[in-house]
Amino acid sequence: MHNRRVLVLTGAGVSAESGIPTFRGKDGYWRNLDPIKLATAEAFARDPELVWQWYRERRHTIRRAQPNAAHEAIANLAQCADEFLLVTQNVDDLHERAGLAKAEMVQIHGDIFVTKCSRCDFEHEHEQDQNGAPRCTKCGALMRPGVIWFGEPLPARETERVENYLQRDSCGVVIVAGTTATFGYIIDWALRASRRGGELIEINPEETPLSRFATRLVREPAAIALPRLVDELM
Ligand code: OAD
Ligand code: ZN
Repeated sequence: MHNRRVLVLTGAGVSAESGIPTFRGKDGYWRNLDPIKLATAEAFARDPELVWQWYRERRHTIRRAQPNAAHEAIANLAQCADEFLLVTQNVDDLHERAGLAKAEMVQIHGDIFVTKCSRCDFEHEHEQDQNGAPRCTKCGALMRPGVIWFGEPLPARETERVENYLQRDSCGVVIVAGTTATFGYIIDWALRASRRGGELIEINPEETPLSRFATRLVREPAAIALPRLVDELM
């Protein structure tokens, strides 16, 4: 690696081998409900208890899950890079539990273990789950999970951290793993980071809108492909 500045972008596919269902595809469904429709402000307004039930089950699944070889490989890569940033769309904590420092990662779609007020700025983390839809102890409004839903703006503080990293310099290596790259900002960040001749490596068993821009395609599960790739880069 001559330019040891690295950007890694991950999505649900990286946690799939830890037993956490992805969003899209037939395994993504929860009780015949489409997660793409559950993860919205509209669904929450219509049926907050149902949405909370889904989030509580996901929290439970994540607590029981362990980081896999893909999470570990990314944490190892961070150790040997000169500069490193992970931008993950995952709201689970598996990158962190694999040993990656919070300062080296941006959870661009939020953190499932945060509970925040839907009206005021009150929030808390890792509190015991209750039944039903909890209410804010400050203002009485409904509490919601600390994640970004479809149609909501990205958290400004987090996008700024990504922008700062991209503006400082380009990257020698950009890895995009386990994401359908549905969102334009994921593609935009990957392309901008690799714009000065950096490698753009996609790890995904399936084709995505990013595939045609990649300098290398690895059509394999992340837990197999990432450890090997990181060994090679190191
Ligand atoms: P998706 O569920 O859309 O896509 C999962 C991707 O992982 C697909 O491209 C699969 O081909 C790939 N995949 C599956 N198993 C894999 C494996 N073992 N190794 C590598 N790749 C694998 O998940 P995301 O792209 O992360 O947002 O979804 C993006 C966002 O849409 C999520 O953060 C969430 C969702 O709705 C919000 O809730 C705002
Ligand atoms: Zn409140």
